[in-house]
Amino acid sequence: MKPADKPATEPTHVPVSLNQRSYEVVIGERLLEQLRLFGESQKPTSVLLVTDSNVGPLHADAVQNAIVANHVLTVPAGENSKSLSQLGRLYDEAFATGHVDRQMLIVALGGGMVGDLGGFLAATLMRGVRFVHVPTSLLAMVDSSVGGKTAINHASGKNLIGAFHQPAAVFCDLHFLTTLPEREYVSALAEVVKTAVLSGEEFVAYLESNVEQVLRRDLQAVKHVVESCVRFKAGVVEEDETEMTGQRATLNFGHTLAHVVESLWPERYLHGEAVAIGIGAALRLSVERAKLNESAAKRVIRLLSSFGLPTEVPPELSEAEMFRVMAGDKKRVGRAIHFVVMSEIGQAGSLPCKLDDELGATLLGRGNA
Ligand code: GLY
Repeated sequence: MKPADKPATEPTHVPVSLNQRSYEVVIGERLLEQLRLFGESQKPTSVLLVTDSNVGPLHADAVQNAIVANHVLTVPAGENSKSLSQLGRLYDEAFATGHVDRQMLIVALGGGMVGDLGGFLAATLMRGVRFVHVPTSLLAMVDSSVGGKTAINHASGKNLIGAFHQPAAVFCDLHFLTTLPEREYVSALAEVVKTAVLSGEEFVAYLESNVEQVLRRDLQAVKHVVESCVRFKAGVVEEDETEMTGQRATLNFGHTLAHVVESLWPERYLHGEAVAIGIGAALRLSVERAKLNESAAKRVIRLLSSFGLPTEVPPELSEAEMFRVMAGDKKRVGRAIHFVVMSEIGQAGSLPCKLDDELGATLLGRGNA
């Protein structure tokens, strides 16, 4: 490693303990050497690197050299690539290499889209092959790269076709975040705030005291943020790997309304921005129905705002339209929708709610009609 490439901080290894499916999330800067050593230790018959047209030109060469990838497959950047047709193309290209077998390794280099698509490719090729995540976005580092959810979208909704397939390792190289566009970086802070609210006082207070450091991507602050999110998520996934007990579902705090906003305005909001709006609504619901202290709710709203995130529902969203989208939501159980609510910071639960005017007024934040 050249002196200029030397990391300023030692990487942290966060274990995700799932019996035979256990793995480590490595968090640090300039992790190519770690990636190389991991690749060697795995002794794969071949390595297939999957990336997208934004990330590939920036980082694929370096990662390909480190992990000694035989082939690089590139999909167009954007959520539209999480499709059956792009997946089909990847199967075709993978088989065309002549290097597909059960001992191969697939590496996903990119944000959440590449992780979900590459992960699903790995979950299904030869009934499942080893898979490594190298997330390049803050959103993927703090959420989607950990926990083994893989999926593609269907015309009926997002992530409706997928599998749980845990990675063999995740490498969160914070150096990649230096090239992340500002809006995308800030948007991911909504998932960070969500995790802080779920995890408890300490993480919330840390964010409140470090808004400026986080916004200017101070390495120590970003490392602390990513590590805190990964540790929290690892604990949840260890308790409820396949979202059966309800614990993992609490990670969907703020996501029911976010889903509505994203479905209706896919071009207007990034995922995190929609989540910030959804958190605002979920906090109002928590105050009304789960005894969350109003000052705690205001505190979280203030934190989101201090990162420059929106917290108000778009004024043109009508109750009827909101309920129409929610009624098609896969989290619907019977005639009620289960919302994640907080009774205090660090205490989440699930609350079934009927889609009625009272709920509509609370979620939209417009007072009782
Ligand atoms: N992003 C929520 C989960 O991984 O369960």
